[in-house]
Amino acid sequence: MTRVALAFSGGLDTTVCVPLLEEEYGYDDVIGVTVDVGQPASEFEEAEETAEALGLEHFVVDARAEFAQLCLESVRANATYQGYPLGTALARPVIANAILEVAEEQGCTGIAHGCTGKGNDQLRFEAVWRDSDLEVIAPVRELGLTRKWEQEYAAEKNLPVEGGSGGDWSIDTNLWSRSVEGDKLEDPNYVPPKEIYEWTNDPSSETQEIEISFEKGYPVAVDVLGSEAPASQSEASASDDGVEYDPVDLIEHLNAVAGAYGVGRTDSMEDRMLGLKVRENYEHPAATTLLNAHEALEGLVLTQEEREFKQLIDQRWSKKGYEGLIDAPLVKALEAFIDETQQRVTGTVTIRFEGGQARAVARDSKYAAYSAEHASFDTETVGKITQEDATGVAKYHGFQRRLANSVTADEDEEVELATDGSGQREDDD
Ligand code: ARG
Repeated sequence: MTRVALAFSGGLDTTVCVPLLEEEYGYDDVIGVTVDVGQPASEFEEAEETAEALGLEHFVVDARAEFAQLCLESVRANATYQGYPLGTALARPVIANAILEVAEEQGCTGIAHGCTGKGNDQLRFEAVWRDSDLEVIAPVRELGLTRKWEQEYAAEKNLPVEGGSGGDWSIDTNLWSRSVEGDKLEDPNYVPPKEIYEWTNDPSSETQEIEISFEKGYPVAVDVLGSEAPASQSEASASDDGVEYDPVDLIEHLNAVAGAYGVGRTDSMEDRMLGLKVRENYEHPAATTLLNAHEALEGLVLTQEEREFKQLIDQRWSKKGYEGLIDAPLVKALEAFIDETQQRVTGTVTIRFEGGQARAVARDSKYAAYSAEHASFDTETVGKITQEDATGVAKYHGFQRRLANSVTADEDEEVELATDGSGQREDDD
């Protein structure tokens, strides 16, 4: 008996894949695998119900802890791609690996996804799966399926689909971000209606401050200032620096707190890996809050040249994250650099939610590479350094440019003298 494992969500694409894997690819048996990276409960219910109606053996794997940890690694790398904090992208290798594990345990010889041939996810899944000996199958892409064809096929076969669960939009949700695309949003000139937002309120005039504690670049605690620390927080323990959370709870907590103030909406044109542009809308309140806080703390503790060089490193990390290639040797090397810099990224940052922004308004660290005494306008001499010591620096600042510009200025003058005997500039009067 031949078996194939299918990345299964219970949506239209993956539902039609179930009979197609038998009819078109000749497998005797299909198993469905849904991986939990923090989707809402309704998505698991839908997957569960659809699997049952299809008579599909269904596996659910909880990968939230692993995924949340990866999200926090991305904070250390200040990771965004064209303004998007990579929720979908970072989740894909985690999902792909979990499905591969089930496939191998269950003696499958094939592994399939329901992605189209247009997007990024096909590439991210297959990068992981093609490391194995399993047959990689992409029915939607390989059979050239359209949504319309799928709907007709589902009706004809009496498949359990309720016209697509997300309504008009194509939605991908996990702990780190919620993405909304498709339908009318495909018009870049179409203003998104309120209904596309589920995690964020429209920003109001209300504000709130929170304090986030970092240890070596990892956020570990949150203090919602002015509120009582929750007395019976089962997963969390209160300390001086707020309430400590494990990564999953920390992200969920911040999504709720920051989302209430309208933090973390992105509406952008995104350049996909294939080169296609796509109009994307995202919500990512926790990601925005943590990324802003982390960068603010780095600003206090890292040296100027570390900050400058780390931007290059962060950008490369983000690109590999976007590509779903987070296990590339390059990423390991980048992370060695990042880890070295993060040893001092310990301290607290106060973030104010205001007007839909999450802005750092205070930061503190025992590793601050900052001397108030030296920087202050109110002190003349600190140690052996006086204000006047800067005079020599000022004399040399821009020295080469002064020389270079004076040489070309002389040359320009000579040319003008040669063409205009009067020695007067023509535009002079
Ligand atoms: N464009 C994003 C990415 O490639 C997210 C796509 C999410 N998919 C969706 N159906 N909403 O990472």
